[in-house]
Amino acid sequence: MIHATLHQLKVFEATARHGSFTRAAEELYLTQPTVSIQVKQLTKAIGLPLFEQIGKRLYLTEAGKKLLETCQEIFNGLEQFEMSVADLKGMKQGRLNLAVITTAKYFVPRLLGPFCKKFPGIDISLKVTNHQRLQESMAANEDDLYIISQTPTQPDLDIHPFLENPLIVLAPKGHPLARKRNIPIEMLNHEPFIMRESGSGTRGAVEKLFEEKNINVKVRLELGSNEAIKQAIAGGLGISVLSQHTIISEGTKGEFAILDVQGFPIERHWYVANLAGKQLSVVAETFLQYLLEESPGMAKRLLPGLGAAALNGVGESIALESTAVAQV
Ligand code: PGA
Repeated sequence: MIHATLHQLKVFEATARHGSFTRAAEELYLTQPTVSIQVKQLTKAIGLPLFEQIGKRLYLTEAGKKLLETCQEIFNGLEQFEMSVADLKGMKQGRLNLAVITTAKYFVPRLLGPFCKKFPGIDISLKVTNHQRLQESMAANEDDLYIISQTPTQPDLDIHPFLENPLIVLAPKGHPLARKRNIPIEMLNHEPFIMRESGSGTRGAVEKLFEEKNINVKVRLELGSNEAIKQAIAGGLGISVLSQHTIISEGTKGEFAILDVQGFPIERHWYVANLAGKQLSVVAETFLQYLLEESPGMAKRLLPGLGAAALNGVGESIALESTAVAQV
């Protein structure tokens, strides 16, 4: 048995994550010499170097990489243990790591409010990012639960659909097409178009439809955020395709009009997913159940102004391997 203390492992893990003694010391509220002495003692106990220093940056050696993996397993195990003990004591306590795609930020925080009131012992880390970045987080097993609109082929996931997430054509209020019905999709070719960045799931769905229908829009602007696109639309720079949830607060009463274009809305769903085979923590399990039970009711309360009969609960949960779920 290697004689290493839990404290030394924590110091090592922070140093490895930051690639720097100084930044690890800052995070742990220790002095820099204390951090480097702890790492030195650990290195001596293991009998192999854990870091190589090139310039100012530290790089992990093979032994260092193995030790980092082991540390992460130990700390995750301890965190799970703490949550289970709290559960046995009748308390839901611990940390929930949640990663959601950009459109879900209009909905999930509203659900988190009542959830945190009900379970005050649960801390939440909420990461909002696009589809591609979310896939990278899944591959690296960074979070407990993921909210996505498109199910990747890899990795294998347990997936539960929970709400519809339609994509609509959004234009500024006074747009000439705003009063027209059943607009042929080819009309979009004549409109300046604002597109999300590459790697965005919204963009992927839009490009797929445009390719099927042979549509070649003039992309005037590419923007990496739904909110920035809304501001560009309001500013008269063009039209775009966004999730209907992005206008959850203002609906069509404010600056925007939803154009009634053939082929729209693009029907999509939000899914809550976790890595298949990963044991969910008590806290993650609690949130998953809460989300599936509460979200349809909350969507009805929040979205009546949108005329979105579509935004209802999808119904029963399913647990599937991602490969078995149709691509949206
Ligand atoms: P995106 O995902 O931010 O990657 O476009 C949003 C969505 O798929 O709803």
